Amino acid sequence: MKLKLFSCAITLAGMLSAQAQHVMEVKTAKLGAPVSSTMYGLFFEDINFAADGGLYGELVKNRSFEFPQSYMGWRVFGNVELKNDGPFERCPHYVVLSDPGHKERRTGLQNEGYFGIGIEKGKEYRFSVWAKAPKGNSQIRVQLINEFTGEEHQEFVQQKLDITSSDWKQYEIVLKSKRTEPRAQLRIFLSSPNPVALEHVSLFPVDTYKGRKNGLRRDLAQALADMKPGVFRFPGGCIVEGTTLDSRYQWKNTIGRVENRPLNRNRWEDTFDYRYYADYYQSYGLGFFEFFQLCEDIGAEPLPVLSVGLACQFQNGESAHAKMDELQPFIDDCLDLIEFANGPADSKWGKIRAEMGHPEPFNMKYIGIGNEQWDTPYFERLKPFVAAVRAKYPNIKIVGTSGPDSEGKMFEKGWVAMKEQKADLVDEHFYRPESWFLGTPEAKERYGNCGALRYDSYDRKGPKVFAGEYACHGKGKKWNHYETSLYEAAFMTSLERNADIVEMATYAPLFAHIDGWQWRPDMIWYDNIRMFKSVSYYVQQMYAMNKGTNVLSLTTKDPGDKKGKKMVPVAGQEGMDGLFASSVYDKGTGEVIIKVINTSKQPQAVQLNLQGMTGERTAETLTLQHNGSMDDENTLDQPDKIRPVAGSVKCETTGKKQQTVLNDEVPAMAFRLYKVKK
Ligand code: AHR
Repeated sequence: MKLKLFSCAITLAGMLSAQAQHVMEVKTAKLGAPVSSTMYGLFFEDINFAADGGLYGELVKNRSFEFPQSYMGWRVFGNVELKNDGPFERCPHYVVLSDPGHKERRTGLQNEGYFGIGIEKGKEYRFSVWAKAPKGNSQIRVQLINEFTGEEHQEFVQQKLDITSSDWKQYEIVLKSKRTEPRAQLRIFLSSPNPVALEHVSLFPVDTYKGRKNGLRRDLAQALADMKPGVFRFPGGCIVEGTTLDSRYQWKNTIGRVENRPLNRNRWEDTFDYRYYADYYQSYGLGFFEFFQLCEDIGAEPLPVLSVGLACQFQNGESAHAKMDELQPFIDDCLDLIEFANGPADSKWGKIRAEMGHPEPFNMKYIGIGNEQWDTPYFERLKPFVAAVRAKYPNIKIVGTSGPDSEGKMFEKGWVAMKEQKADLVDEHFYRPESWFLGTPEAKERYGNCGALRYDSYDRKGPKVFAGEYACHGKGKKWNHYETSLYEAAFMTSLERNADIVEMATYAPLFAHIDGWQWRPDMIWYDNIRMFKSVSYYVQQMYAMNKGTNVLSLTTKDPGDKKGKKMVPVAGQEGMDGLFASSVYDKGTGEVIIKVINTSKQPQAVQLNLQGMTGERTAETLTLQHNGSMDDENTLDQPDKIRPVAGSVKCETTGKKQQTVLNDEVPAMAFRLYKVKK
């Protein structure tokens, strides 16, 4: 190094290992492209029991007896009759509990929840039920039980509830538990001679996110908020399409009072017979209103995705899809959704939103049309949707898709079609191995444009990129582990550097129940009472919380350029020793933020020349690093095993102008983020 370093008594440079130093030039005085506020977001799909059994706070499965097998999730005993002329026309089933016919016999029912019901010591649970007592006052006993205990009593909480009206009415009691039971059940006994009719039997924690009655599981929703996501894509994923068109996600069925939202079969019930869950349905209790509300709560732009009239293309041939002359109801769904979200409170759909408690518009700006569709069946169907949305809502940004692959013929064709149809954004999906994320020569040979230089060559004149689903899937190791998360971090430098073309990016999938998943890796895992954030979560969070407002040029000398003049991005190319880096400036905080990922097995010495900055400073750092096996991950028992750790590095100065220089050694297989006040 020719640079002469001043003013720092103990320079880190002296302590650096024998590795060659990597000098990077960061142009802090020249602001580059703005970083979109939507850049790092979340993608929610009801896969892996992410909604019912996950984020949605309801603890009772099949609460309205609407599953095709009416008692799925329930065990009934004694004199129980199923009826179907209940008070809610789209969920007409209910049960009548009558005297068992002998004083020593019992009538009742028991619900298993989702892999049990998670009950926590000291917490309150709201039991509610629609009921009537057709033959005079009746009573039920509501219990939380541990069926598999050796103790004298299975119940650990019990309360009586009088049903006092012969008309349907909602009753509510709050149960408080003195102990934690992760796999409890709900048991209801008829405890009067008179019969009782029960419908929509529900149990929620009182302490939901934001304290709402039809609310979300607090810890999971909080984890989303803690990421400060810029955008929230929902409700899928393949469930937008359905295994058949009639099981596609239909947003109109998900609004209005929860008791009357019809059940839908979950597409993920049908997908893998080696991880099969016959009881995977969508109650729609977490519906579009709740999604919009969540977006508002966590400060993310809502990005709903709707069916384009195609059932899942992987699972079906042409005959399964809506024909071209059958598309109008699907197009209406798009237009009506925009009115539901943004229309005045006296418009047809805006009125429903207002009645649900949100008279102000949700101010939705984006709509996705089609999930992961490809080829002519998609392109021809998309056209009338685009025309209709543009005509009525010219300011809404339309998100099209390039299909399930991140390269290849269909992908290219998708991009051409999206350009022709002037989509505002193209949703790309890539679940790819380590080599793809690192952009190794072998991966380039096999896949073409991959790795952290992927977006540098994209056409700047067409639609913007939405990396709508991506995750590094370890080759032969398709589960969450540290190494793949680190490679995601490395790849994400390319999203940041190319913020002029990449407008948003969302890792996928988001949630997984430890006892009921179909797909790995996932960002957040949980059981009935605990959760952990994966290393991928922390990677996403480090980017999302430090996205800055403008890109800064960060380059180094091209190791392949003999003259040593050409400057190139730091993107893991040959000679970079596994380093990836990018930089942004944050106008709000006045900070220069630099992200460096070292994917090599050795520590790497880096010198960051902060051009345009002078004087000594201290950089705050955040380091994600793991000294154990690269296959490790956080767990329910050790949720904090791997997480970013804060630190600091003293910057030095060089030259007459006293330019600020940051010298550091980035640990092997680590992601270090630097923040320096300008
Ligand atoms: O994220 C899991 C699935 O991957 C999504 O449902 C689908 O869009 C993609 O194939």
